[in-house]
Amino acid sequence: MPAPAMTENSTLPILFAPDKRLRLTARPIGDADGDMVRALAPKMLATMYAAPGIGLAAPQIGEGLRLIVLDIQPEEKPEPLVLVNPEIIAESAEAATREEGCLSLPGQYADVTRPARVKLRYLDLMGTKREIEGDGLLSACLQHEIDHLDGVLFVDHLSALKRNMILRKLAKDLKSQQRG
Ligand code: NI
Repeated sequence: MPAPAMTENSTLPILFAPDKRLRLTARPIGDADGDMVRALAPKMLATMYAAPGIGLAAPQIGEGLRLIVLDIQPEEKPEPLVLVNPEIIAESAEAATREEGCLSLPGQYADVTRPARVKLRYLDLMGTKREIEGDGLLSACLQHEIDHLDGVLFVDHLSALKRNMILRKLAKDLKSQQRG
């Protein structure tokens, strides 16, 4: 799919933690959702690129659907990926730790440990069954975005102490931004 036009008006507002909608389990996308999802996916990609970010899940823009978009190398050649109903079907026993951030927790970062390698099954926008396998940044990004579909944020992988520190810092940052 070609990269969407990155115009201002094609982007969607992103929800910030602790918005309760980020904590809901998203529903699977069915045949009847096809047209809606094909209209939504380019807007999600435009929103992700404009943020800028490398991944975005539908719950982050207030849509409780199992839909994620990502592009782990937007600086180079754009390679947008749209995953409908993604499911992890295999993961490595070996773990890897990377620093993660999230468009719903702007400005907050922490090291997160996850399986180093994952294999996913998903549908593309035409409803074709596909699989994707990755390690490194791609693996972390896929797992991070799938977490969003189950109401899980990257801070949930941290200790309660660290998580609360980050959430308090976020609330403070967002408040000072509002004040200008
Ligand atoms: Ni995120």
